Amino acid sequence: MRHTTRHAVAAVTLLVGLFAACAPEQSPPPAAGEQALVNPATEKRIDALLAQMTLEEKVGQLNQYSSPFDMTGPPPSEGAQKTAYDQIRGGLVGSMLNVTGAEATRKAQQLAVENSRLKIPLIFGYDVIHGYKTIFPLPLAEAASWDPAAVERSARIAAIEAAAAGLHWTFGPMVDVSRDARWGRIMEGSGEDPFLGSQMAAARVRGFQGKSLADVDTIAACAKHYAAYGFAEAGRDYNTVDISESTLRNVVLPPFKAAADAGVATFMNSFNEIGGIPATASVHLQREILKGEWGFTGFVVSDWGSIGEMVPHGYAENLAQGAEQAITAGSDMDMESRAYVQHLTELVTSDKVDIKLVDDAVRRVLRVKFALGLFDDPYRYSDAAREQAVTLTPASLAEARDVARRSIVLLKNDGVLPLDKTVRSIAVIGPLADDKDSPLGNWRGQGAANSAVSLLEGVKAAVSPSTRVLYAEGAKLVTGPRDFSSPSVYNTSDRSGFAAAVAAARAADVVLLAIGEDAYQTGEGRSQADLGLKGLQDELLKAVVAANKRVVVVLMNGRPLAIGHVAEAVPALVEAWLLGSQSGHAIADVLFGDYNPSGKLPVSFPRLVGQEPLYYAHKNTGRPGPDSSVTWSHYTDVPNDALYPFGFGLSYTSLACSEPRLSATEIGRDGQLRVSVTVTNAGARAGAEIVQLYVRDLVGSVTRPVKELKGFQRVELAPGQAQEVTFTITASDLAFYTARGQWEAEPGTFTVFVGGNSRDVKEASFTLR
Ligand code: NOJ
Repeated sequence: MRHTTRHAVAAVTLLVGLFAACAPEQSPPPAAGEQALVNPATEKRIDALLAQMTLEEKVGQLNQYSSPFDMTGPPPSEGAQKTAYDQIRGGLVGSMLNVTGAEATRKAQQLAVENSRLKIPLIFGYDVIHGYKTIFPLPLAEAASWDPAAVERSARIAAIEAAAAGLHWTFGPMVDVSRDARWGRIMEGSGEDPFLGSQMAAARVRGFQGKSLADVDTIAACAKHYAAYGFAEAGRDYNTVDISESTLRNVVLPPFKAAADAGVATFMNSFNEIGGIPATASVHLQREILKGEWGFTGFVVSDWGSIGEMVPHGYAENLAQGAEQAITAGSDMDMESRAYVQHLTELVTSDKVDIKLVDDAVRRVLRVKFALGLFDDPYRYSDAAREQAVTLTPASLAEARDVARRSIVLLKNDGVLPLDKTVRSIAVIGPLADDKDSPLGNWRGQGAANSAVSLLEGVKAAVSPSTRVLYAEGAKLVTGPRDFSSPSVYNTSDRSGFAAAVAAARAADVVLLAIGEDAYQTGEGRSQADLGLKGLQDELLKAVVAANKRVVVVLMNGRPLAIGHVAEAVPALVEAWLLGSQSGHAIADVLFGDYNPSGKLPVSFPRLVGQEPLYYAHKNTGRPGPDSSVTWSHYTDVPNDALYPFGFGLSYTSLACSEPRLSATEIGRDGQLRVSVTVTNAGARAGAEIVQLYVRDLVGSVTRPVKELKGFQRVELAPGQAQEVTFTITASDLAFYTARGQWEAEPGTFTVFVGGNSRDVKEASFTLR
């Protein structure tokens, strides 16, 4: 056998032992989780249970099926579904996904606990990504708030609603760093930066899991997709990943480590291969790093069908071999490949897989079930009365509005904004202007279709009674009905709405033009090779601008778009992402100045799609230029840098950072350096700046990025106010995965940069002895 035999298993175990013994400092085992899943009393109960379980029942705990109602992969046949129910009764299923609602989960749980021999409860998982019924901004949008506390509150509310609907477990947070706007799933993560991504990952884990998994209003979180899914070549979903160990350790893994340190109960592996090994079969990722170095004690679920997909990957000859490879590598639960349920028993009895691997996987799954309190009461989450009481409450909607306005990024403003609420007339135009569905975005949980507050509704609710609000759709974004399973067609050619749009623009004092992407243009399987505006939107923009120069473009989208031409054409541009249930109100709060925008981009916006992957923390190269010759690292047709860089976002007031002041120019390994700046609000409105600290390590045993985010702080300033902001840098902030395979700081000279975005910074330098 090519990949794994029993001997290979032994070798793997030995390797794990060896590796753990020389584990780099990055990850002192065990992970300092806030919520230890392991405690002696539970382990004893698990021992007792394991002793009673047949091999088939053990394998059953590792088997996860989807309910047919909300599919995110190829649906099983009707026959297969009937088999699934029989298997639940027989104790051969450990988990279901996509069963939601207090009643449905209770019924499914009954199947398991009233019929199976050992009455082991099912764990119900679901993609609660940015809300369950109260829908919050897309995760990428939320990251633009640079506000971990707000993001934690959003995840907390999502967990409260989901838990009351009988769910125990969310497949979130998605913590994939992604630097390629073509990738449709960039919307699900926190953008391009490992530091910001780590803060967001930990905040979401804290929000979902609360103080204790045993509380009935908390759910187990899942850090996904482990690992490097966001580095799919050319941004094409599911595509090959081939990155160095340095990129893996320094860029991809930090948010996963942050999730582990915050006590995340589960991980999900990823569809992609890395360096020729599918992540699902990666011993290095799952056994060596996650369970070895980091001491992770929860369980790893495969992604949907990812064990089976190792056959088309060309790594497994058949499903049986895939099962062997996956369990050997540490994938504990099989989501919808049916590889374990069909083959694992035979693999163990034929000595191809060591029963110890199965026992360990089952133990991990049971640990999480115990932690959730399911053995005390398997129905404790499924509570119809609570579900009704805690879902879509006014308080949750108010929170959704607040998080949404914190997520908005002001990209351009020549003084048009904020608008006066007593403006005589305002035209709200565009395919997204009165769209009540798109703001909910993809992965919207159980958010009801068309339930968002549209921009038009938000504007109408905000303006004075005397203001005339005109509306025209102008052009449609899609030709047919929006359909989750078949991505929409965007090449519309119907210009019949143009005349009304132009007339409305002409008749109004100011125009709000809502353009961008619809709900399902981003998300799984929604990669795009073009980052321009689809359909007739550019044409509509031209026609509207020709009719009225005072146009504010409200951009709604789930990925960075190449919108240089839009920014040039209009005096104001607002990045309003897809902001969830309260979208229209939140945007109106910003447009009319009730909320002074403070959001900052969590990802670079390109000038042209050809710049992708584009990110601020790039390497310098041997020919950084600029140079008078042509032979330096650049494009001949477009500048290297972003149209709007990482960390960028404007305010209605005028905020400025001073030169950084350093407490020393040299620090030792145990020393601390304080970096202070004075932030001043020279404008006439109160506003908030997100002060960002970046560092460059000038020489490394592995070359270092030209800038790396190391800290950020939000400061609220009254008009005319100045405030000092101080960051403290220690050697551990300067550490990275070095050429020695250690997580350590290397002595040398560093530049420190401070500013309101990654481009406009002031710098100083210091030395680490
Ligand atoms: C596949 C997706 O990749 C993953 O993120 C999701 O959690 C599962 N389907 C379950 O829906």
